[in-house]
Amino acid sequence: MAITDEFKQELKARTDIADVISSYVQLKKSGRNLVGLCPFHNEKTPSFNVSRENSFFHCFGCGAGGDVITFIMKIENLDYVDAVKLLAERAGMTLPEDGAYDNMGKLKTRIYEANREAARFYHRQLYSPGGKRALDYLRGRGLSEKTIIHFGLGYSPGERFELVNYLKSKGFSNNELIQANLASQSTRGYIFDRFSDRVMFPIIDLRGNVIAFGGRIMSDIKPKYLNTSDTPAFNKSRNLFALQFAKNKAQGQLILVEGYMDVIALHQAGFENAVATLGTSLTEEQAMIIKRYCDEVVICYDADEAGQKATQRAINILRPTGIKIKILTVPNGKDPDEFIKSHGDQGSARFRMLLERSGNDIEYRIMKLRQGYNTEIPEQKVEFATKAAGLIALLENPVEQDVYTSRLSRELEIEKSAFKRLIEKSTKQKYREFKKTEQRQAQDVISGRADKLNTEKRFNLRAANAEEAIISLMIHDPDTAMKIARELPADNFVTRFNRHIYEVLKNRIDEGREITMTDISGELTQDEMGRISGMMMSHPREKYPDQAAGEYMEILIEQKQRLTPEQAATADNDTIMEQLRRLREKKK
Ligand code: UTP
Ligand code: MN
Repeated sequence: MAITDEFKQELKARTDIADVISSYVQLKKSGRNLVGLCPFHNEKTPSFNVSRENSFFHCFGCGAGGDVITFIMKIENLDYVDAVKLLAERAGMTLPEDGAYDNMGKLKTRIYEANREAARFYHRQLYSPGGKRALDYLRGRGLSEKTIIHFGLGYSPGERFELVNYLKSKGFSNNELIQANLASQSTRGYIFDRFSDRVMFPIIDLRGNVIAFGGRIMSDIKPKYLNTSDTPAFNKSRNLFALQFAKNKAQGQLILVEGYMDVIALHQAGFENAVATLGTSLTEEQAMIIKRYCDEVVICYDADEAGQKATQRAINILRPTGIKIKILTVPNGKDPDEFIKSHGDQGSARFRMLLERSGNDIEYRIMKLRQGYNTEIPEQKVEFATKAAGLIALLENPVEQDVYTSRLSRELEIEKSAFKRLIEKSTKQKYREFKKTEQRQAQDVISGRADKLNTEKRFNLRAANAEEAIISLMIHDPDTAMKIARELPADNFVTRFNRHIYEVLKNRIDEGREITMTDISGELTQDEMGRISGMMMSHPREKYPDQAAGEYMEILIEQKQRLTPEQAATADNDTIMEQLRRLREKKK
């Protein structure tokens, strides 16, 4: 059974959106709404609104929005059906199991199943005669039996059809294996194993699903690692390697390293709070996830140039989240795995020392900056001091600012007051830049230029605004919605994006179904839901909704009669005369 309207009505009646959101976000009352700091982007002043009255949320900062189901989908990274399940459980309802659910959800489930079978298969291969080389390789890198099992490491055989044949015998289709990115398709149409003759690292999400693999070659052939590409069940920028273990051991701190092997070596040495990105540099999404599990990150990347660049980038991504950042530099150009291994029994203790000595990110950046200057030369000293002041200006804590100001002015033999003025100057400049950006963004929103979803809006501002007012009128008021649906055909909508939303609403009304936020969220994307919640925030409930509806519909009808420039170029004389007459009439 699919999720019926009745089921949703019941769920809606039993679920208070503010209650649900409150377990993720601290909300405060503000006018008719509740407000808080948005959990979907970084902000210091709250622009995240929850309307209890209309059961939706909206963030003015990042545009996220929708009903309670959309919220759970986004924050728990679930698909629609799983989000409904979670909420139903919370409300003490049971969802009928034999679901004829949406196809995407079904495919995702099949991919999880295929991945789980594949992980088991690869692991078994490790202990077969063919996998001996791989097992020796892992042991040679210092991994214990326990570690190999704990991480579920494996071996993908080199014959190219082993996994495909095995999974097909288990009932998986070619398409499922390709969609899971476990198989590739040849030009002649047959499918073969994607991973061949590699040591396999399964990647597991927080719910214990095997979502992807990394595979390491045991020779110098490139690429060294082959990773699962994004699939319907896997997004590499939204997951972190070993977070399923690390989250329980974090105790406020996570160690961020570059490689799978670094994570594994650290866990084996007792640092079970280590995680790594999945073959890409750190993303904002990963930073937000990290923030949910700790308040301090120790970045511990390779000492080579690439690693140092990646460190700077990671600092820039993590800093806006407000997490405390520390940098651990491994000596002698080693990565954490090599460092621990090179110290034998002492590896763990030596790494702990490095961890305790790791400095914060401003210290690190000042140190890096200083390497580029000879501060014996006055001009270079001035330039270094100016840039360093810019870094110190980034600190929000005045005591922290003072610590660095004192230290640097002493070291550089500069008057502390002079150095302070440099910092103030930089702060002011940063503030001006911030204001300017803010103004430009506001302008872009007003003019519709910022609208990435409804790209036609900027060219049809008046009509698009009327469309948005109509959509929110409908959701606010069922009677008005019926009247609008009866009177306004969908082709009167000028912009395609809004027209699609209107069609969804109108179809439901024509079928006698409801159109509250909870009713429609299954038929619209998260982006569309975010846009609708925005419309509802900018067009609150009207006192005389029918009258307002009439006025907005009027605007659309009038816009419809207006010729587009292309139409005008080819229109006959009568049509143009008629158009002019109408425009003149309107003027009066
Ligand atoms: P490293 O080469 O530093 O990984 O790349 P490592 O774990 O230390 O590898 P070993 O010690 O030589 O076995 C860091 C990470 O970058 C990604 C992988 O996620 C790797 O763990 N990577 C690297 C790739 O995705 N593809 C590559 O070809 C290389
Ligand atoms: Mn390494």
